[in-house]
Amino acid sequence: MLSAFERYPLTFGPTHIEHLKRLSDHLGGDVQIYAKREDCNSGLAFGGNKLRKLEYIIPDAIASGADTLVSIGGVQSNHTRLVAAVAAKIGMKCHVIQESWVPHDDAVYDRVGNILLTRIMGAQAQLVDEGFDIGIRDSWLRALEQVRAEGGKPYAIPAGASVHTYGGLGYVGFAEEVRAQEAQMGIKFDFIVVCTVTGSTHAGMVVGFAADGRARNVIGIDASFTPAQTKAQVLDIAQKTSALVKGPEICGDDIVLMEDYAYPAYGVPSRETVEAIRLSGRLEGMITDPVYEGKSMQGLMDLVKKGFFPKGAKVLYAHLGGAPALNGYSYTFRNG
Ligand SMILES: Cc1ncc(COP(=O)(O)O)c(C=O)c1O
Repeated sequence: MLSAFERYPLTFGPTHIEHLKRLSDHLGGDVQIYAKREDCNSGLAFGGNKLRKLEYIIPDAIASGADTLVSIGGVQSNHTRLVAAVAAKIGMKCHVIQESWVPHDDAVYDRVGNILLTRIMGAQAQLVDEGFDIGIRDSWLRALEQVRAEGGKPYAIPAGASVHTYGGLGYVGFAEEVRAQEAQMGIKFDFIVVCTVTGSTHAGMVVGFAADGRARNVIGIDASFTPAQTKAQVLDIAQKTSALVKGPEICGDDIVLMEDYAYPAYGVPSRETVEAIRLSGRLEGMITDPVYEGKSMQGLMDLVKKGFFPKGAKVLYAHLGGAPALNGYSYTFRNG
């Protein structure tokens, strides 16, 4: 589906699929859980899902003649960390807006983790006091203007690299990669669980798995706490991406989004999220974060316990990265 599109390699290659046997056993053993380790996909600044998306965006950025990548996220944005890494790698400048998306206080929240790495890689990280919104933001548009006013040539990458013509392609590729790995492993996954916020990871998977009738087996776990906006954005990106790759028609029912795990707010972990992070760490040595993967891990565990997946099902948990943000939550885990 992707042969017509240029790809700039930023990742190591196909990501490892790991059987989470101890977690599967702990949850009763009726469902076998596997993790596809997108969190270990690259040597660029600890990796993560954004790199798979950026592989299809960067050729356009280079072709545009831009000299500065301009993007946006929260203070502890994984996305802006990876845009900064890619800018460094390809020799561009980087200006990122870091908005106050998370109502969370930790003494060094704006000094550690993702924003620390972003600064180390030389990006201009501009803190802006605006709340959470996955849409197009004025602060980001102003940053684009500022780069132009200073004589630079900006290339615009929206939040999460999602609302971009090529933003959904990377995760179409993920589905193709899973199909090839399934053939090698001699198994087939019945469900794919993915954390959803700005939407193009989920949307790309829906398009990629629609090719073999599994669009509705992609189970999004909302971490935005604005699920209506997130779901609408997933559908819009999936429809546009499918048209771009000449894929099948995607309709509203193809987008499955579980809304019960994002509470109490985007970026703020519930007690259950914190428990899921501990359990995944203690049973599998697999680190998840309080903003994204901890919530999708919580959702996965809860759905298994509730019997959402039929007995004998094989479930693939897409681990999308995000661990650096944990540094901003040290007080929560001060006793482990
Ligand atoms: C670690 C991690 N998991 C999940 C997501 C959600 O992906 P998306 O924004 O494509 O929905 C993101 C980014 O927003 C992320 O950084």
